[in-house]
Amino acid sequence: MGKVYYVSQNVGLGLLVLAVSALATIIALSIAYDKEKAKNQGKPGDGAADSTSMPTPSTTQFTPKEPWDYYRLPGSLVPVSYDVTLWPRLEPNKDGLYIFTGNSSVVFRCVEETDLIIIHSNKLNLTTFNGHHAKLSGLGEATAPTIKKSWLVVKTEYLVVQLSNRLAVGATYVLHTEFLGELADNLEGFYRSEYVEDGVKKVVATSQMQATYARKTFPCFDEPAMKALFNIIIIHNQGTVALSNGREIDSVIEGVPVKVTTFEPTERMSTYLLAFIVSDFVSIQSNQNNNLLIRIWARKKAIDDRQGEYALNVTGPILQFYERYYNAAYPLSKSDQVALPDFNAGAMENWGLVTYRETALLYDPVLSSTGNKERVTSVISHELAHMWFGNLVTLKWWNDLWLNEGFASYVEYLGADYAEPTWNMKDQIVLYDMQKVFAVDALASSHPLSRKEDEVNEPAQISEMFNTISYSKGAVVLRMLSEFITEPVFARGLSAYLNTFAFGNTVYTDLWDHLQQAVENTPEIFIPDSVHNIMNRWTLQMGFPVVTIDTRTGRITQKHFLLDPDSESVLPYPVNTNSLMRVSGDGWVLANTNVSGYFRVNYDPDNWNRLLSLLSTNHQVIVNRAQIIDDAFNLARAKIINTTLALRTTKYLSKERDYIPWESALRNLDYYILMFDRTEVYGALQAYLKKQIQPLFEHFKTITANWTKIPQGHTDQYNQINAIGIACSMGVKGCRELIKSWYRQWMENPVHNPILANLKSTVYCSAIAFGGVEEWDFAWTMFQNATLASEASRLRSAMACTKVPWLLNRYLEYTLDPTKIRKQDATSTVQYIARNVVGMPLAWNFVRARWSYIFQQYGKGSFSFSNLISGITRRFSTEFELQELKKFKEDNVHVGFGSATLALEQSIEKTTANIKWVTENKASVLKWFTEEST
Ligand SMILES: *[C@@H]1O[C@H](CO)[C@@H](O)[C@H](O)[C@H]1NC(C)=O
Ligand SMILES: *[C@@H]1O[C@H](CO)[C@@H](O)[C@H](O)[C@H]1NC(C)=O
Ligand SMILES: *[C@@H]1O[C@H](CO)[C@@H](O)[C@H](O)[C@H]1NC(C)=O
Ligand SMILES: *[C@@H]1O[C@H](CO)[C@@H](O)[C@H](O)[C@H]1NC(C)=O
Ligand SMILES: *[C@@H]1O[C@H](CO)[C@@H](O)[C@H](O)[C@H]1NC(C)=O
Ligand SMILES: *[C@@H]1O[C@H](CO)[C@@H](O)[C@H](O)[C@H]1NC(C)=O
Ligand SMILES: [Zn+2]
Repeated sequence: MGKVYYVSQNVGLGLLVLAVSALATIIALSIAYDKEKAKNQGKPGDGAADSTSMPTPSTTQFTPKEPWDYYRLPGSLVPVSYDVTLWPRLEPNKDGLYIFTGNSSVVFRCVEETDLIIIHSNKLNLTTFNGHHAKLSGLGEATAPTIKKSWLVVKTEYLVVQLSNRLAVGATYVLHTEFLGELADNLEGFYRSEYVEDGVKKVVATSQMQATYARKTFPCFDEPAMKALFNIIIIHNQGTVALSNGREIDSVIEGVPVKVTTFEPTERMSTYLLAFIVSDFVSIQSNQNNNLLIRIWARKKAIDDRQGEYALNVTGPILQFYERYYNAAYPLSKSDQVALPDFNAGAMENWGLVTYRETALLYDPVLSSTGNKERVTSVISHELAHMWFGNLVTLKWWNDLWLNEGFASYVEYLGADYAEPTWNMKDQIVLYDMQKVFAVDALASSHPLSRKEDEVNEPAQISEMFNTISYSKGAVVLRMLSEFITEPVFARGLSAYLNTFAFGNTVYTDLWDHLQQAVENTPEIFIPDSVHNIMNRWTLQMGFPVVTIDTRTGRITQKHFLLDPDSESVLPYPVNTNSLMRVSGDGWVLANTNVSGYFRVNYDPDNWNRLLSLLSTNHQVIVNRAQIIDDAFNLARAKIINTTLALRTTKYLSKERDYIPWESALRNLDYYILMFDRTEVYGALQAYLKKQIQPLFEHFKTITANWTKIPQGHTDQYNQINAIGIACSMGVKGCRELIKSWYRQWMENPVHNPILANLKSTVYCSAIAFGGVEEWDFAWTMFQNATLASEASRLRSAMACTKVPWLLNRYLEYTLDPTKIRKQDATSTVQYIARNVVGMPLAWNFVRARWSYIFQQYGKGSFSFSNLISGITRRFSTEFELQELKKFKEDNVHVGFGSATLALEQSIEKTTANIKWVTENKASVLKWFTEEST
């Protein structure tokens, strides 16, 4: 929470506790874990998944023999530079295929004697020269051996060139290839995106290389440590514009209708950060940052509607912030950011040419909500953080992805805070990363942040690294370290790291070395162990601890926190006793007050009771209310405290006006809603929540003058959305009528939408939920007509709120038709439908029935794909559903689960835990809600 609170003596004590327990936890954690591991290994054959091993199984039982059977390059050849020419065709050829052609010459050095050239190439049709797929020549003194044989290896995605003689160590050669590939609509490699403007279909050629798709665009040494210079030429039609990582230096018309655009040579960089775009997009630009060219590109209509302006406004300040924070100038001569109609991830940090989903870059001052605006700021801040961390200095291999993504996910809050200082962005990490990853990392099927290099080889294993643990745990663990050694020292170490390894590659311990050095250069900072040793405990083992403070004795203990009480196997490990923790009378202790420690906190029952009474009398004294609530609910889930104790943390909410505690409570109550919305408990729950939300609803009604004004504070605006959404679904008087009348007014006059931008998501969803086919069809028409991506996205989500089964089934079918729902949005639409209590069984049947098709279309490497399984199964809490899930796993072994493999294991574990939880808690929860709602 970013507000200034009254600080009592007791809060001061709380702060002290934080420091002590963070330290103690860090030191003792490894011991607790080691014991546990030993115990688990001592239980053979109990069927428990070995949670620390890599979950993606090898697809075949295959023992590699030849160099080209390995997924990793042999390392005997090192690229220096590439000359690449690409020519994407934006009209289909006579067979109806969209294609691109091109050629590439790679200059490479031989560092180990070899008669093999092994280079990545995937799904490219290579031109043959005298029967071989490439031409080889020597550079300078070197003479190239002749090519004996060449062939493609589909499984490992290589072009292999066998030479008649060995290449000489130290000599440099040039390998030339010419190729043709498909410009498919599969969002991978060099692909095409389509949109309609003024009734005309437009085609865009664009690219997504991370992690292993550069090899689908031209033959290359496609590993992040194989950095090289790239000289890019793009051939394209007149009337279109070509973009790449470097600034365009020359564009000449060559024949009709062809234009040749040459780009300045890139810096030394990794293949996964390359980008190529040909489009008829237009741009707006500024060069306020020391003449650095900053441009925002999008569809002409979007730019004309000034949807790019906000992104342009914040990019300059965010770049300036990072230049100062990293103490290093922006490494390139330009910064382009492009909004694409079809894009799989949220955004991609291609060096100098960052690509985005439209919703992550475009903002309409009239039509977009505050949430849309915050997303734009955060995503830009995240991607620009990578321009240094990740792009200038790159991790050697994908096993260390967590450091790259975790780092950007942490500092994105700092950059966004600089661009929008009134938003209190830094507080939001607690909701969006900390609590999110606490939920996943509390499972026995979690995994450590760090993986060994040789455990991550195949493309599917690499894709699986892009998960919540890497992003969010990486972020909160780095934030904890930064706060622990203090932010200035962290920034100094970081800057030394970036300057030392600029244009090179690292492993994660290189960062620890530089942070350690920064600590040693700062005599005021004392840490009890090296940065390496401290961080190993957070990165090499999965999970996090729960620290228990017993205020009767002053004893502090800790153990590994696991959501399923039965997978817990360690006795509490005593950390220390601290007389400051011993309190009596009205005294109380509160730990982890600024929630920078990645652990949960439990207290003795007396201290809990004192904290609860403080909540009811003077809640603002407790600064970390959101975390108290989240800890209590999760400790109850793990059976460490009584469920009713957790529920009691919500009793004061009728007085709460702040967003972050409310949001935290709602997310935790959401679990109760999911578990019970098909049972009698739901009626009592609704009555209780209705009583609690009513004052907040009235509060916003008053401060917005009967819903006509927008609340001032940034997070107050979010809280207003919660107030309306919950009030309507819990049946607060006047809420549904209000929403229906707004939506009705819009239906009567579609060109004039009277609903305030911030409230649209909630209003659309509620109106469609309370309405029928007419409301739904209206939303569908408006969805198809929307020219602002975030508006389309709101409608797409709201249409999943209907309670009418046939509408939901029809909507599910639409997700398989890319002319109705874009491929990039298919899996998330299915998830929205599953979120709805009526839609859940429909979505589950739909996915089961079409698994092999869906897997084929979306399963190979997309991040959102693993969310599909976890999304659909969130409500699973019966023995029958567990059996269905297990059967689904068995039935589809032959098809596979790709990047959803881990998600499936987690779903089985979660369902098992849910069944147990519901059985044990249903009666007492019903009783509690019933008593408290009257
Ligand atoms: C690459 O292709 C372009 C366009 O077809 C052509 O102009 C150029 O000469 C080719 N480069 C080489 C080295 O073959
Ligand atoms: C590549 O070659 C194969 C085999 O000749 C052919 O079937 C395929 O259509 C070609 N790809 C493209 C994009 O033309
Ligand atoms: C961008 O900045 C300009 C100049 O400060 C301002 O007038 C404009 O309203 C800003 N645009 C947006 C969308 O924030
Ligand atoms: C939980 O609290 C309730 C109400 O205070 C009590 O009846 C119940 O026995 C407690 N359960 C446990 C396991 O302590
Ligand atoms: C809000 O509406 C109520 C009832 O219609 C009215 O009495 C009140 O004056 C209105 N308040 C404002 C600020 O418009
Ligand atoms: C659809 O969009 C166009 C262009 O934005 C607009 O002129 C038209 O009024 C819209 N139709 C409806 C039904 O809103
Ligand atoms: Zn990132």
